[in-house]
Amino acid sequence: MSQSIIVLDFGGQYAHLIANRIRRCGAYSEIVSNDISPQEIQEKNPAGIIFSGGPSSVFAEDAPDIHSEILKLGIPVLGICYGHQIIAKHLHGKIVGAETQEFGKAEIQVKNENSPILKNISSGSVFWMNHGDEVVQLPENFTCLASSADCEIAMMGDEEKNIYGVQFHPEVTHSEKGMQLLENFVEICGVAKTWTIENFIDIEIEKIQKQCEGKKVFLLVSGGVDSSVCFALLTKALGKDRVFGCMVDHGMMRLHEADEVVKMLASAGFDDLHVEYAADKFLGNLKGIFSPEEKRMSIGNDFLELQAEIAERMNLNPNEWLLGQGTIYPDTIESGGTKHSSKIKTHHNRVERIEKMIEKGLIIEPIVDLYKDEVREVGTALGLPDALISRHPFPGPGLGVRVLCAEKADILENSREREFEIAAKYDGFSGRILPIRSVGVQGDSRSYRHPLVLFPENGEFDIEKMGEIAVEISNNDPEINRVLINLFAETPPEKYEVKISEMTVDRISVLQKADKIVRDSIFGRKDCEHIWQFPVVLAPVFLDEKEAIILRPIESENAMTATAAHLPDEVLLNIISRIENEIPEISSLFYDLTGKPPGTIEWE
Ligand code: XMP
Repeated sequence: MSQSIIVLDFGGQYAHLIANRIRRCGAYSEIVSNDISPQEIQEKNPAGIIFSGGPSSVFAEDAPDIHSEILKLGIPVLGICYGHQIIAKHLHGKIVGAETQEFGKAEIQVKNENSPILKNISSGSVFWMNHGDEVVQLPENFTCLASSADCEIAMMGDEEKNIYGVQFHPEVTHSEKGMQLLENFVEICGVAKTWTIENFIDIEIEKIQKQCEGKKVFLLVSGGVDSSVCFALLTKALGKDRVFGCMVDHGMMRLHEADEVVKMLASAGFDDLHVEYAADKFLGNLKGIFSPEEKRMSIGNDFLELQAEIAERMNLNPNEWLLGQGTIYPDTIESGGTKHSSKIKTHHNRVERIEKMIEKGLIIEPIVDLYKDEVREVGTALGLPDALISRHPFPGPGLGVRVLCAEKADILENSREREFEIAAKYDGFSGRILPIRSVGVQGDSRSYRHPLVLFPENGEFDIEKMGEIAVEISNNDPEINRVLINLFAETPPEKYEVKISEMTVDRISVLQKADKIVRDSIFGRKDCEHIWQFPVVLAPVFLDEKEAIILRPIESENAMTATAAHLPDEVLLNIISRIENEIPEISSLFYDLTGKPPGTIEWE
């Protein structure tokens, strides 16, 4: 019996997530390049093939493609988004560039409930869409299996040959019946189910021992889930004496974070952590830097330089040491680290110098193929305490990516006209487009666009409805990728100003205060357990000479997709009143209602 399902990677943000989901169904899955030959596929003897999504348009000159023969091998195929279009292209369906791009939730209407791929999936199921082009005419012998409001052929299939295409993304957790659809495909393939997390740990320990060949590991530790699990895994594989854990306090941590992390790791058995205070270096190098990518490069490079300085100071022989990092898969994919993927943002552990060190074999990253949910499972299996495993994710550059910087106002053309249009369309709201931009992900590519702030006239809002409005606005306006609600005022100000704003100790300390208020308000509460991560952001959007704070509570499972989380009224009111009373440096408080896509979790 064949043991695997292979995923052909067209560079989609979720290509690797598909493999993760297939493993969740118990079947082994691996990623291969889209240009794999039919012979190479036959050598692997897979039970099924999945074509991933991707950022390209099938009409682009250099659009990634497949060998046509692959569709004639007699192996079941599932094409997802771009992969669905690839099937249509090769089997003579028709594809057009869609007039409206569709991002976010879509309900499907099932057209053939007896199809094996639709087992236990009915009309009204919500799936996640993220596309521009669209299949408008079926290939020969295919039938339409499901439609959505904006996409007639949302799903198609040739059931005799077991070739299926879906325009939506079953692999993301926000697709309600996504796992069911993938399980149906696994069943159609008849693959052996042999994959478990324990298998992963055994295989990884062997790999670590082999890669290290007697060397030791200098591991950068942040106190977050990823680096802690990495610490535990490396220690298990190599022994305590061969793993040196170093935490860098770069001056952009949360209030008291460094002390808390040292205590927490000590209680988990890592009692000899080295702590390096380096705020002057990191903040000094960030002077005069405003753009999100340049900030990330500066922080990433400083981590590397500092590691080299410490190693030299401690007389560590570079030939005896590898640099360890708790990189996980979303860090790589968002940094544009696979063949056709688009760069969304450079994670601190993926700057150019690190990439060069990886090529030379100087870096070890034992959990680089995992997602956060899997990392947590590995941590639990290795016996790490719950308090550590269940920590909210926190990015390596810390508040460095949450204190937004700006050199001057970035004003969207025709802002006033757009604001009038929005007010006319959405009764009871007025809007202001902010003169800054933030990073988002749309159609598998990076976007850098403006946020819109809505002001509900009666001060009341329904987060679910607002979330839908947010999706609608960002789908229809090519210059807006986030929608916020104002929590301090019901009527919009005439204008928001932007002043030159750098990364300074004072600005970091304002954000630390707001972040602490938020953490105090949600932790330990049962009704806040659904919140997966809660970035709090400082934005140089001035009103009465004071800046703005943005609340970004989100629900997610693996950071690849997310929705804005609902805050219980009591919690929200407490946060509003404490920020208003305790942080005089702030004049606006916004609540980010944007999903991912079209936003990202962080703002830059
Ligand atoms: P985005 O903002 O891309 O974030 O939706 C996805 C997840 O990754 C975290 N993140 C980072 N983590 N280094 C990290 O260790 C980074 O440079 C970085 N940037 C984003 C983010 O907090 C979220 O959990």
